[in-house]
Amino acid sequence: MSGAALDLAQKNMESKGWLDMHVDPTLDLEVEIEKLKKEKNAIILAHYYQESEIQDIADYIGDSLGLSQKAANTDADIIVFAGVHFMAETAKMLSPSKKVLLPDLKAGCSLADSCPPHLFRAFKAQHPDAVVVSYINCTAELKTLTDICCTSTNSVAVIESIPEDKQIIFAPDRNLGAYLKKKTGRDLILWNGTCMVHEVFSNEKITKLMLRHPEAKLIAHPECEAALLDKAHYIGSTSGLLAFTKEDDCETFIVATEVGIIHQMEKASPHKTFIPAPPNNMCACNECPHMKRNTMEKLYLCMKYEQPEIILDQWIIDEGVKSIDRMLEISAAAGLGLKPEEEPD
Ligand code: 13P
Ligand code: SF4
Repeated sequence: MSGAALDLAQKNMESKGWLDMHVDPTLDLEVEIEKLKKEKNAIILAHYYQESEIQDIADYIGDSLGLSQKAANTDADIIVFAGVHFMAETAKMLSPSKKVLLPDLKAGCSLADSCPPHLFRAFKAQHPDAVVVSYINCTAELKTLTDICCTSTNSVAVIESIPEDKQIIFAPDRNLGAYLKKKTGRDLILWNGTCMVHEVFSNEKITKLMLRHPEAKLIAHPECEAALLDKAHYIGSTSGLLAFTKEDDCETFIVATEVGIIHQMEKASPHKTFIPAPPNNMCACNECPHMKRNTMEKLYLCMKYEQPEIILDQWIIDEGVKSIDRMLEISAAAGLGLKPEEEPD
């Protein structure tokens, strides 16, 4: 590959989000990526919503909490984040001395975008005494305005850690917020954001599917709307949903979250049937367009050239990491997320 091609790709990286360079189609990308991991002492952390090939080459696959815990503890020199932008930013905040790479910088998140920090600052000023809890699916700058972060695995424990007489602002996901209100009995002040993947499940189609498969259990992520959650046999984070399908006796599940998780469900329980919950459009399942921006080619290129890299201002790291550290402390005390034997040395 010529130096001129690399220069051009670097110039275009900001507009494209990734190093758009030719990848020899005859290359065995799995082998090449494995080589780069060893050469560079890099670790690949992948979310369950990544495409199957990426999940299969990752060193760790997990939910947002597990991924943060791994990012905080790894002894690798480079963290390659196969996920979306806020996840890679979180990894950088937790391990600021390490190089954090994201295969495509434009792998964003509709929830994070729904809560611009300047608007949130004004909203927060209207409730000066409230404790701010933000779902980890938010920008690094929003984390600087947050007291405690949470994920869907630890959100109940985080809310319950706050004294009963305190007001709480919950941002940015109104669906997870409504679920937490119901679950904890606390009167949360909600920001009006949603996840574009979880809000478009079709109630009507899911009801019909449940009638067609009376033997099936509906399992749903708490980012889904209340009408769907009310019907669900089980509600949980991605890792919670995966664990439920392993442990429950039921043989058929209708899965109301991003379809990528089904790869791990099928691997863990090959004899069971997993039906993706349908959205209210022509598609048969829901994919997150942000998560799916990452491809094996982009993963290979970002590891080879160590770009794009996540760079954050020092003040954002210093201020924002406090809310993530607080979340990790609460999770550890509640025994949530990775167990000590799963933590790297
Ligand atoms: P969890 O992995 O915490 O369940 O969150 C799902 C999600 O939407 C990540 O973007
Ligand atoms: Fe964001 Fe939803 Fe995609 Fe998760 S699934 S990254 S919350 S848009």
